[in-house]
Amino acid sequence: MQKYSIAPQRGFFPQPSYLIGTFKEDGIPNFSLITWITFCSVNPPMLMFASRGRKLTRELVDKNGMFSANLVTTEMMYMADYFGNTSGYERDKCEDISVKYIKGKVLDIPVLEESPWIYECKLIETINKGDGCIYIAEVKNILVDETIKDISYGKVDLISIDPLIYAPGQYYKLSSSIGSVGYSKRTM
Ligand SMILES: Cc1cc2nc3c(=O)[nH]c(=O)nc-3n(C[C@H](O)[C@H](O)[C@H](O)COP(=O)(O)O)c2cc1C
Repeated sequence: MQKYSIAPQRGFFPQPSYLIGTFKEDGIPNFSLITWITFCSVNPPMLMFASRGRKLTRELVDKNGMFSANLVTTEMMYMADYFGNTSGYERDKCEDISVKYIKGKVLDIPVLEESPWIYECKLIETINKGDGCIYIAEVKNILVDETIKDISYGKVDLISIDPLIYAPGQYYKLSSSIGSVGYSKRTM
């Protein structure tokens, strides 16, 4: 297939969606939608997310040194879209939308009851790059819905968890698994 060049830019990039949860000084939770997020270390488990611009989440992560990363499912799309398009500086988002949250098991962070898979994260380092900033955090605990029984590698049923997938401008839903990792080697 012939290709054409486009100017270097953010571009198209399918990503998972997570709501980053932090407590404000008054103990009220704040959540914002982050899609620039991934693992960066296995031992110890660490994840990182990137953020740019003025955001309450950034101020609170810096101040508190901890946050929750709540996997967003397609059922949570409305909440995620609202939290991703509303500044925590301007609104008490959790009052605008009724949100059930509890405290983390290990860290003093708000976690969403509705999310089936939640990382409790302790900030390790922040790195400024370009007009953005990378937050690197150690995963101190993972809260998993009781309905998710087998969490071993490759066994989590992502289709039934139904994560919300983001690619610039649109939200998507997964439809099926089409192969297991390493299958090309096994069928050689
Ligand atoms: C689909 C979507 C994806 C987003 N992904 C990111 C992201 O990865 N990093 C980021 O800094 N902001 C991202 N945002 C923007 C923040 O969620 C948004 O600025 C939010 O209002 C910040 O809220 P806060 O002020 O409560 O922190 C995204 C927004 C949307 C709608």
